[in-house]
Amino acid sequence: MIPLAARPEVAMSTPPERTELLYTGKAKQVFATTDPDLLWIHFTDGATAFNGVKRATITDKGRINAQISAGLFERVEAAGVATHLVQAIGPADHLVHRLEIIPVEVVVRNIAAGSLSKRLAIPEGTALPRPLVEFFYKSDELNDPLITDDQALLFGWARAWELAYLRDAALRVNDLLCGFWDGLDITLVDFKLEFGRALGRGRGGQILLADEITPDGSRLWEKGTLRKLDKDVFRRDLGDLGDTYRELFERVFGEAAGR
Ligand code: TMP
Ligand code: ASP
Repeated sequence: MIPLAARPEVAMSTPPERTELLYTGKAKQVFATTDPDLLWIHFTDGATAFNGVKRATITDKGRINAQISAGLFERVEAAGVATHLVQAIGPADHLVHRLEIIPVEVVVRNIAAGSLSKRLAIPEGTALPRPLVEFFYKSDELNDPLITDDQALLFGWARAWELAYLRDAALRVNDLLCGFWDGLDITLVDFKLEFGRALGRGRGGQILLADEITPDGSRLWEKGTLRKLDKDVFRRDLGDLGDTYRELFERVFGEAAGR
């Protein structure tokens, strides 16, 4: 079971308050707080796929994703990869360090699936000889295209040392997550990470893991049955996403997702 308590070293006696709404994304709202260096992220019950073409509201999804992500971020931080999470501050809410997001999405794959299978005609389920790291340019207008390292450098989306850090940190997170999901009889097929440059005091200048680690941005297959326990259930109309996420929550925390 993942401990959900705030990390003691950063838990604040008087946490800042949520102020104005800065941004509404597909599954999150971002608010300012009374501390200029911290933001408040609220995970909503919104689900989208295919760049917003398919949309639904899935009861409990915000709370489940926020709590799974907080638990995994705590483990990642403990393993030495710095994250933006300051503390889980509500059932579906994270208090985080303010960042400048690096517009490069980092996908790690252990097994071929999704866009890799389509792009290169590698059958879904083919085990890869080692984890594959891919970079995508974060752009809704362009549908997050796959990019090369050189394109990221040339267009100024990231510096060489940053790309090296992203790759190394993503592989370390993959090692940790593979072990975590394996312990629950689940195979980590692939997942997506986002990183940012910390602004403000405290962690200023550091690259921090940002966004979320959730079944929205991962592929998780039950061992043996290969049943999907992730957002592909919604993307591909394979069943009820709420039921799938409640089952995953129970596996992760050893208890039902209470209201
Ligand atoms: P892909 O196979 O569609 O490229 O997806 C790889 C992984 O990245 C998969 O676990 C889902 C995740 N992902 C996101 O989190 N956001 C996205 O917009 C896309 C396309 C994929
Ligand atoms: N996150 C993207 C969307 O909301 C794509 C996806 O996850 O399939 O449309």
